[in-house]
Order: sequence, then C-alpha cells, then structure tokens
Amino acid sequence: MKLIYKLHLSFGILLVCVLMLTATFVYPLLMDTLINNQREELRSQGSAMMELVNSLPVQDLTPSQSAAAIVQPAQEINRSVDALLIEPNRNILFSTMTEAQTQTWLPLIEQYSSHNQQGLWENGQEKYIVETLTSNPQNLGPVSAVTPATLVLSTPLSKVKSYQSELFTRMMFIMVIGGIIAFGLSLFITKRLVTPLEKLKLELKKVEKRHFDEVQLIQTGGEIGEVAQSVHHLAGELKQYHHAQRQFFQNASHELKTPLMTIQGYAEGIRDGIFTGDRADNGLDVISSECERLKGIVTEMILLAKLESEDGIFDQEEVSVEQLIDKTVDRIRPLAINEEVDIRVKYEVDKQSKLHIVGDSEKLLQAVLNIMSNAIRHASHAVYIEISEQDGQVQIDVIDDGEGIPDHLLPQLFQRFIKGKNGETGLGLAISRAIVERCNGAISAHNGEHGGAIFRMNFPSK
Ligand SMILES: Nc1ncnc2c1ncn2[C@@H]1O[C@H](COP(=O)(O)OP(=O)(O)OP(=O)(O)O)[C@@H](O)[C@H]1O
Ligand SMILES: [Mg+2]
Repeated sequence: MKLIYKLHLSFGILLVCVLMLTATFVYPLLMDTLINNQREELRSQGSAMMELVNSLPVQDLTPSQSAAAIVQPAQEINRSVDALLIEPNRNILFSTMTEAQTQTWLPLIEQYSSHNQQGLWENGQEKYIVETLTSNPQNLGPVSAVTPATLVLSTPLSKVKSYQSELFTRMMFIMVIGGIIAFGLSLFITKRLVTPLEKLKLELKKVEKRHFDEVQLIQTGGEIGEVAQSVHHLAGELKQYHHAQRQFFQNASHELKTPLMTIQGYAEGIRDGIFTGDRADNGLDVISSECERLKGIVTEMILLAKLESEDGIFDQEEVSVEQLIDKTVDRIRPLAINEEVDIRVKYEVDKQSKLHIVGDSEKLLQAVLNIMSNAIRHASHAVYIEISEQDGQVQIDVIDDGEGIPDHLLPQLFQRFIKGKNGETGLGLAISRAIVERCNGAISAHNGEHGGAIFRMNFPSK
C-alpha cells in the first residue's frame, strides 16, 4: 500500500476513534452536569420561593390566599418545575400539580425525604430530580408560624434527557464537521509531505541505475530537504568515485601493459633469433629492468590497497618532526647532488625539537620522500622545506622553484596513475596522500605566485 494511503487511513481511523471515545465519555458526563445544574436551579428557585413564604404578611392573608400568592411568582420563575408546599401534618398549602398528581407525591415525600436526598425519586414510570427545602419556623409567615413547612421542587428526568440528547447531537455535529475539516487538512499536509518523498524515490532509482548525471536536487525544507541534499551530494560523490575507478583501471592496465609488451617483444625476438649477440644481451637487460619496474608498480599498488583498507600495517607512534625531516634530507641528498639542487630547511617555531606528530615513522618518511623526490626532479635550483606550528597543527611545506604543476593535473593530482609529461608511475603522490590521511593529516598542492609547486602537509601536533 502506498505511504500516502497508509497515512490517510491511519489518520481517518484515529479520528473515528477519538470521536467514539469522546462520545462514550461525554454522554454520561453531560447527564451528570445537566442533573447538577438542574438541582442548582431548583435550589435557587426554592430559596426564592421560601423567602416569599417567610415574608408574606401574617394578618392580612388566609392560607389559601397566601398559597396563591406564592404559586404565581413560582410559576413565573420556571414552568418546567413542579412545586409542592406541605405542612408536616400533610396539609397541602399549595401545589402546581393536579390534585391526583399531588396525591401520588405525598407518600414519596415521606419515603425519600429522610434519606436519598441526592438520588432520583421514582414516581410511577418516571424519575424526578427533586430538591426539598424547609421554611424557617422562627420567621412568622402566614403559612406556618410554628411548624416548618416543606417545599418540594421537582423536574422530570425525561426533560433533562431530552436536553442531553439535543446537546449531544449538536456537539457530535460540531465534532464531525471539525473532524471533516481536520481530515481535509491532513490530506493536504500529507500530500505536501509525501510528494517530495516520492520525488526522492525517483532520484534514488537514478542512483541505483548509476545515472548520476540525471540526479536532481529536490527543493524542499526540513529533514526531507536535508535527505534530498545528502542524496544529491552522494550522487556527486559516487559519480566522482565511479569516474576515478574507471580511470584507475584504464591507467593501471596501460601502466602494466606497456612493460609487458616490451618484455614480450624482446623475449619473442630472442626466441626467434631476431636478436642475437649483444642485441640479445641488451634485450635481456631490458626484460630484467622492465620486470623490476613491474615489480615496483605491483608493490606500490599493494601498499596503496593496504593503506586504504587494512589497520594492522600502520603503527601509531610519536614521531619527532625534526628527526623526520633530517632523515628525509639525508636519504634524498644523493638525488639532490645529482640534480644539482640545493635543499634548504627552515623552522618557523621556537623549539623545533619539541615538535611531534602521531603516525608510522617509516611510512611518514616514505610520504615526505615521495614529495621531496618530485620537487627535486622538477626544481631549477633549490627546494625549501618550511616547518611551522599554528592552532595545534604542524604544517610542513615543500616548495620548489621549478615550472610548477600543470593546471590540468591539479584537480586529480593525488589520484593513482596520474602523472605529467616526464612522470614515472604516477603512484608516489597517491601513496603520500594515503599515508598522511592515515595520520589524521591533510595534504594539498598548488603553484606559488612566482611559479614552482608548493606541497602542504598538515598534522595534528602531539
Ligand atoms: N614538484 C612538482 N612540480 C611539478 N610537477 C609535479 C611536482 N610533483 C609532482 N608533479 C606532477 O605530478 C605527477 C604525479 O606525481 P607522482 O609522484 O604521483 O608520480 P610520478 O612522480 O610521476 O611517479 P612516481 O610514482 O614514481 O612518484 C608527476 O608526474 C608530475 O607531473
Ligand atoms: Mg613521484
């Protein structure tokens, strides 16, 4: 089932549950509230009538006159209320009911008034909400000067029930309308939420089919927007990786094929008697040196693969930067003398002996040697090594005064088998980068303002 339909269905079910639960709890609650309100109403009307009873002039009115005087205002207050005023000797002072009805109430008053004040009174088939009040005997009214008269006010429960169902119907009507509006809103919101997800799914399908160029950035906000951006970024990364992989295989096969063809050519020439004597000896020398070169390439490729995947081959020790540079210069000096290039080391720190980084000293030496040998090969007269420290980072710059790195090489300089016109295998810088990154460092290259290449390595200082 599609996500959008699932969301609609869940919200619809949730809405129906909420409506049903509300109805189940509200219906009886409504009844209780209405009964309590009715009791309040009866009490306030009863108090008003009792005040009237107690304030009527004693002398001027007969009991029947006073009763009439009470009935009138009592009925003005609320027509849905029945009132009955009796003396303890069951002498009825007034009643808003018919004679027959009044007679049915007399035994009930006796039965209920002693207890069950808060409950409902049952009279025949009907239930009543009843409030009884007693007049103040000290107050000399016309009705009963000595004994307290009892006022019984009642409302049939059926009336309250009709209010209840009327109110409940209205409430449910309002809630259903509200529910429909909420559902409509939810349709709108879920559509807005799900549409970008569906678009994202399409973009991911393109990634799956490796159509990286067709992947588009979906414009939307929030978390989905962030995911969309990540997918777009991922597609870019995969595209680059894919391209690099393809280039690597092309370059690797080319690098391996050339010496193999040379070896094959000489081997067949010697076998077929085309090369004889000195030429055959020379051919064997070429075969031997090409095999040596192939061995070198394969060793470097294995090292690179190990550096990128294995943990075991890399020691993590404290390495003195000063010792690292000294060793590099010692090892590279013969090449520098050969190429007639001067090496100048410059420390821009107070105590160079205190500079330390963490990594594998042998591999770090190899990384710096690769960069130094490149610099010496390309330099005109001198190579400078500048060491500095800033914000907990040790920076090692290798600068030469040569022709600089060709612009077209710069973006992919550190990739495997990328090399310039007079390059060798094109693996040196890839190995250097892998080593520097294994030491949590970073390496970059650019050309200086006045020509010449600058290789910069940064390591967290220990
Ligand atoms: N200091 C430099 N000045 C100018 N070009 C450079 C410099 N260092 C490197 N390059 C260019 O970068 C290319 C790649 O260098 P890298 O060290 O990876 O390979 P390589 O030197 O050709 O072969 P090897 O694997 O034997 O080191 C070189 O072929 C060269 O064209
Ligand atoms: Mg090199």
